[in-house]
Amino acid sequence: MPKNTLKICIGTPCHLMGASELLESIAELDQSLRDKIDLKTSHCIDDCCEQAPVVEFNGKIYQDLNPEKLYKIIRNNIR
Ligand code: FES
Repeated sequence: MPKNTLKICIGTPCHLMGASELLESIAELDQSLRDKIDLKTSHCIDDCCEQAPVVEFNGKIYQDLNPEKLYKIIRNNIR
């Protein structure tokens, strides 16, 4: 069972600001990291739409992301 939960928002504002790139970037993660992550999608995370795209990783919200920023967050916070 993965110990980490990654929720990627795919609501319209996040979609328009690159949520699908974030989703694709997860597919390209090293398999050893990927196996530790339970990936979910959401249609809005805490009304943070103005800072799209938004993800929640292990309960913490991160905003205004791109794949590079998301990789850094995952590498720094994965259990
Ligand atoms: S639509 Fe993504 S945070 Fe609201």
